[in-house]
Amino acid sequence: MVKKIFIKTFGCQMNEYDSNRIFDTVKEIGFEKTDKYEDANCYLLNTCHIRDKAKEKVYHEIGRVKKIFRSKEKPIIIVAGCVAQAENQEMLKREPYIDIVIGPQSYHKINEVILKHSNDKKKEEETEFDTISKFNYLSKIKNKDSKVSSFLTIQEGCDKFCHFCVVPYTRGPEYSRPFQQIINEAKELVEAGAKEIILLGQNVNAYSYNVQNTEFRLSDLLLELDSFDQLERVRYTTSHPKDMTEDLLNVYKQSTKLMPLVHLPVQSGSNKILKLMNRKHTIEEYLKVYENLKSINPKIEFSSDFIIGYPDENEEDFKKTMELIEKVKFTNSYSFIFSPRPGTVAAELKLVDPKKSKGRLEIIQKKLFKNQIKKNKSLEGKVLNVLVENKMKDGIKLFGRTEYMTSVIFDGNIDCIGKIVQVEITSSNQNSLFGKLQESIKKKVA
Ligand code: SAM
Ligand code: SF4
Ligand code: F3S
Repeated sequence: MVKKIFIKTFGCQMNEYDSNRIFDTVKEIGFEKTDKYEDANCYLLNTCHIRDKAKEKVYHEIGRVKKIFRSKEKPIIIVAGCVAQAENQEMLKREPYIDIVIGPQSYHKINEVILKHSNDKKKEEETEFDTISKFNYLSKIKNKDSKVSSFLTIQEGCDKFCHFCVVPYTRGPEYSRPFQQIINEAKELVEAGAKEIILLGQNVNAYSYNVQNTEFRLSDLLLELDSFDQLERVRYTTSHPKDMTEDLLNVYKQSTKLMPLVHLPVQSGSNKILKLMNRKHTIEEYLKVYENLKSINPKIEFSSDFIIGYPDENEEDFKKTMELIEKVKFTNSYSFIFSPRPGTVAAELKLVDPKKSKGRLEIIQKKLFKNQIKKNKSLEGKVLNVLVENKMKDGIKLFGRTEYMTSVIFDGNIDCIGKIVQVEITSSNQNSLFGKLQESIKKKVA
């Protein structure tokens, strides 16, 4: 009998990358992927712990699966990811329906754990931080991701310990994968059809790999990828402002493939709040990076993450965040109300009145969304380079992205997939652009 696995992924791109690699791994023991709950012999939930009631969401989801399988044979239930790492044994105690709990640094053991459980039916828990073994193992399993735009994790974990953040506890200390291991995986992805590679890390620009007294940094990886003939675009995320070093900024002068959108989370526009958050940089330093990059290439744009209502944030601090948005005109940004995370320094601090935080979030989002709508509107009538990723669910339209990651939806034939085409933008909304393929391109790809 063919065994089927259903994988559901919450959280950041690194979880998406991990889910893909988990699938590449379990294939070796005979699993196929299914997107139907009811067909699954194994159900894996890759979880995120960054905000809100992450833990409760997991139990809710497991409850849903339980209902689906009430009158059928139960699948093996695996909880992976950051909630698994944070809660470990507790999850097995609280929800006996769960069979296996596995943390992000233990995925190289997943086949062993599944096979063991299938034999002895005992509960399994694997939450050691063993990043080196994880990536050594994964480098031996071919990355079969054949998407036009593919993720590639180069660095994992974080040593920065921002006071609000759970990542250093769930992903462990910073670890940078060997340079050559990454380049080999990038080659595999390109051979499988990737035209864009997005380098990932919780602190991607802290990447530092030392061999024979030579340090390899993110800048070296980007320059190496620039020489890949079949690759069209390169991006990296998520960066920390403190690690925007000169060598990285200089890549923007040389690279032909590095895209002109920099995702650089700032969290707050107030130095007082940045200090309380333990962000290790000031707004002046952030703006220096902004100005340096703009002077290298004025077309570079910024996107960011904001935390609203961090303990002790007052109207004056919030005003400073609004002023920063006015100055930098961020696109595609994320903003969330501060959520106390168990075990972090900020979890113990006095919360801002939730009504005030909610009010501030509405104001900031209105401003960010207005900028976004204005930006998209200004592109109407223009012809943009779009990397075509796939067909839309309707089976008719195509989906692609601009150099700035904005979604573009347009009519075209499937030969365009994997190519950069010119699309004339005819209309837009906050999140997407709509357009038509330029006539000359239509003929060329027909
Ligand atoms: N390493 C990145 C950095 O330093 O900017 C961020 C990684 S974190 C996975 C992504 C975003 O989640 C953060 O930039 C922050 O805005 C948000 N975040 C993290 N912890 C949070 C919390 N406790 N409450 C609200 N938002 C949070
Ligand atoms: Fe979290 Fe700060 Fe590390 Fe980013 S730099 S992952 S926000 S602790
Ligand atoms: Fe979430 Fe873990 Fe990523 S907490 S944001 S899945 S690193």
